[in-house]
Amino acid sequence: MSEQSTQSGELPAPTQMFQLILSFMMPQAIHVAAKLGIADILARTPVTADELAATTSSHAPSLRRLLKFRTSVGVFSEDAAGKYQQTPLSNALRRDHPQSVRGMAIAFGSPFFWRACGELSATVATGQPAFNHVFGMSFFEYLAAHPDDAAVFNAAMTSVSSVELPAIIAAYDFSGFHRIVDVGGGEGALLHGILSANPKLRGVLFDLPPVVAGAAALRSGSMAGRCQVVSGDFFQTVPEGADAYLMRVVIHDWNDLSGPGSGPAKRSGRCARGAESVARSDRQPGRDLTRSTAKGYAFGFRLKTFT
Ligand SMILES: C[S@@+](CC[C@H](N)C(=O)[O-])C[C@H]1O[C@@H](n2cnc3c(N)ncnc32)[C@H](O)[C@@H]1O
Repeated sequence: MSEQSTQSGELPAPTQMFQLILSFMMPQAIHVAAKLGIADILARTPVTADELAATTSSHAPSLRRLLKFRTSVGVFSEDAAGKYQQTPLSNALRRDHPQSVRGMAIAFGSPFFWRACGELSATVATGQPAFNHVFGMSFFEYLAAHPDDAAVFNAAMTSVSSVELPAIIAAYDFSGFHRIVDVGGGEGALLHGILSANPKLRGVLFDLPPVVAGAAALRSGSMAGRCQVVSGDFFQTVPEGADAYLMRVVIHDWNDLSGPGSGPAKRSGRCARGAESVARSDRQPGRDLTRSTAKGYAFGFRLKTFT
């Protein structure tokens, strides 16, 4: 089959590749629209590009081109009067959408992500994170030194949680647990959702001090009595005494050489050891919490040794 031939109306391969290559601009265009809060403005009323430019202090002709680019993929639409309107896709960029992806759009288009992605070939050449190559430090060291970007990153994680939470709650039954620790749980959006859906469950949010400082929702209302917010470094310790340990999008951040005794197997070992301490102590009537059950509670971690 020649490169130019098509199957069932597909574009020729070079044209498809051309589109894939140019798709690098899409996330940046979504990022700019999210940063300017255009979806929030359009939630109130359709407006022209000039009005949007005035409201957002933008260069009108450039903003118009950006909007036209976005409408080509269904993010905003333009009516016959030249006014831009919300679409189902752009609606998800609203700040107050229950599953808002605004935080993700802002973080993943920000220079601290974007510049590292631009150096991907350094990773492929060396096996080392491009982030370190660009910024001269690891990702989490960078966030510790740049609180504004850390806030952007934490908001993105909250945004991811809000999108994934309904599927996680539907897919996994947490009701059999007494106490769950979310290790590296960010600002606690996932834990908050799990506790809200399981009123008898108690929880512990564990993350670095500046991160848990943003866990206001777990410190107020009915959550305050059911949830502890603990700061610390999971390379040193994790809270013990829970029968479930959750690590969502945490293990992938590290390789087995990330510091002494800190590989994923060791970290998951710490989690399972926390669960195991409950297995030893918690012998409630009708609840057979064996060592192997405790291991299973550590969410799929299959451990060969405890160290
Ligand atoms: C990719 S984020 C995932 C956040 C959260 N689990 C979620 O799903 O939204 C990784 C988390 O690990 C936390 N983290 C990184 N190093 C840590 C450490 N040494 N001790 C505790 N938490 C750490 C970060 O602060 C961040 O919140």
